[in-house]
Amino acid sequence: MIKFVDLSRQYESIKSEIDAAISSVISETAFVGGKYVQIFAEEFSKFLGIKHCITCANGTDAIEIALKALGIGSEDEVIVPAHTWISTSEAVTLVGAKPVFADTLSYYYTINPREIEKLITEKTKAIIPVHLYGLPADMDSIMLIAKKHNLFVIEDCAQSHGAKIDERFTGTFGDLATFSFYPSKNLGAYGDAGCIVTNNDGLAEKSALLSNHGQLIKHEHRIEGRNSRLDGIQAAILSVKLKYLNEWNEKRISSAKLYNDFLKDVRQVGTPSVIGGFTHVYYVYCIKAVDRDKLREYLLTKGIETAVHYPKILPGLDAYKYLNLSGEDFRMSLEYQPYILSLPMYPELTSEEIKYICDSIKEFYSSVQIG
Ligand SMILES: Cc1ncc(COP(=O)(O)O)c(C=O)c1O
Repeated sequence: MIKFVDLSRQYESIKSEIDAAISSVISETAFVGGKYVQIFAEEFSKFLGIKHCITCANGTDAIEIALKALGIGSEDEVIVPAHTWISTSEAVTLVGAKPVFADTLSYYYTINPREIEKLITEKTKAIIPVHLYGLPADMDSIMLIAKKHNLFVIEDCAQSHGAKIDERFTGTFGDLATFSFYPSKNLGAYGDAGCIVTNNDGLAEKSALLSNHGQLIKHEHRIEGRNSRLDGIQAAILSVKLKYLNEWNEKRISSAKLYNDFLKDVRQVGTPSVIGGFTHVYYVYCIKAVDRDKLREYLLTKGIETAVHYPKILPGLDAYKYLNLSGEDFRMSLEYQPYILSLPMYPELTSEEIKYICDSIKEFYSSVQIG
């Protein structure tokens, strides 16, 4: 069986380091906050080349905290992609603001800057681009629009650890950026974890206050915040894994090249497109496939797990029925929705496995009646 994500292979390759890191946290009882959290925060900000990293409990909290740090709340509107994981819009609703969905840039699956401009009203306060699947959103255009209309930008980097535009990492363009370290991410913990990064001292302090009961010093609660802290075990694991992030991303990139190569002559399949100068880190390797659902079933019979990111665009979910949105406004997202298919992708995937997956895809299209 080729699993869609196989985290045990990675653990086996760094087992001694991970076990030693966990053991140190336990022997020093550095369970919540503390030394290991501080070390990871410093290492991650150094990695990105950004001034502050404020760790928190998960990537959804990170977006909510970033929005609150910017003072966004009721009566405000925040523009988010129609095609992403629900956390991006959920966080907007959680702070009392309204999520406004923008359609997708064709071929790239990220938010379309032109659509953003059409949606700006006097209530719009921020834009949250998502570097979906590991491909950076068009940050140059988004930052220009934000500047022109005086809007904040929060980059949702939950899927883009190590992705770059030229030599600049995603997470360093906006006012703030948020990361998830959910286990399957390019940089993943062994449980939930997240962070907010920024170059702005004031926003960093506000985010730190909001994530830990409004205190920077114990018992000095300057505001009401929440409990969204990173634990020491996750931080120590992340420090071990951060050292391998570039190498693992390189492996994902070569696996993507291999997939592209094997699939290039399959006319029923579209492989991912990358904007020139952008580094895609392939959190997800998403193809467009004719007769997707039948292909998925066939691949499963061949022992290959796949996934769909995501089966429904956000405006089509029950959760957003109350907004009475029209499919007309999300034509691009809806157009490719029935075709998108995520193939297995992780640094430890072998070339033989990739070949087997691609051969199975070819087999499906040559033997199965399409319709
Ligand atoms: C685009 C995006 N944003 C936010 C999140 C939220 O992260 P978490 O699961 O750590 O809350 C995720 C997680 O899958 C995500 O993919």
